[in-house]
Amino acid sequence: MVRETQLSPANLIWPLFVCDGSGTEEAISSLPGVSRWSVDRLVERAKEAVAAGIPCLALFPYTQPDRRSADGAEALNPDNLMCRATSAIKQALGDDIGILTDVALDPYTSHGQDGLIDDAGYVLNDETVEVLVGQALNQARAGADIIAPSDMMDGRIGAIRQALESEGFGHVQIMSYAAKYASAFYGPFRDAVGSRGLLKGDKKTYQMDPANSEEALREVAQDLAEGADSVMVKPGLPYLDIVRAVKDNFAVPVYAYQVSGEYAMIEAAAAAGAGDRDALVLETLLAFRRAGASGVLSYHALHAARLLGA
Ligand code: PBG
Repeated sequence: MVRETQLSPANLIWPLFVCDGSGTEEAISSLPGVSRWSVDRLVERAKEAVAAGIPCLALFPYTQPDRRSADGAEALNPDNLMCRATSAIKQALGDDIGILTDVALDPYTSHGQDGLIDDAGYVLNDETVEVLVGQALNQARAGADIIAPSDMMDGRIGAIRQALESEGFGHVQIMSYAAKYASAFYGPFRDAVGSRGLLKGDKKTYQMDPANSEEALREVAQDLAEGADSVMVKPGLPYLDIVRAVKDNFAVPVYAYQVSGEYAMIEAAAAAGAGDRDALVLETLLAFRRAGASGVLSYHALHAARLLGA
């Protein structure tokens, strides 16, 4: 009766990986219990999410190596995996579930960086933003409800917002990965989208230094000024102080991404007998809510939603 914080399936966003094929499930060894699904099987997962009360899915593609290139052009292909997955789910389920699509080039580049690079390997901010605008429009045309730029280029929110407005997609929201840190917790995700082996160097010229919190507030302020509808903090558990600071400073919905390395840690702890899996999952998700998050992106979302009951 006096509980201050509530957690329900409505607070969960479920990230899913999509791959080519039909009837296909591909396990990801560094993410035990998480698979890539072909579009037909992905639609089944989406139906399970609706039944469990999850309001939104976040989609990420595994792009075949022969479709990757230095310029990430596959991101602009209207028939790419993301677009096919988005429109298949929308056709099957309509407004019963929201689709959040990832804007960044790392699943499509042959070098694994989130943007275009120069000869020295540095990511080129403004040239990248132009491509990201095309990528966002491509996803909006396929039926995306929320565009989620995870690339951390400067100025991309304003450019994408303007393009969405002028192309008739004013109703499409933007959830900005505003405070995204250059983190060691992303390893299993890079396996899942096939970029780990390709990536040379790191992403520290555009993702944030884990030592900084005031910079997170500047990043959020900038993205909101450019037209973001909601913002994200990523990773999750090690950055709950940032979630709280953003919530206290800005009256907007704040989301947290409990990322792949965090998921893997919980699974490893449970497998080693260090803690009860279900209890660990629910306690960590509740902690995000206590810190001020409106919702959480979590690979445990379906399991947690079923534990919570729709
Ligand atoms: C990159 C992107 C990453 C994640 C989501 N989008 C990895 C990275 O920045 O290298 C990580 C998510 C996770 O670890 O679960 N655009």
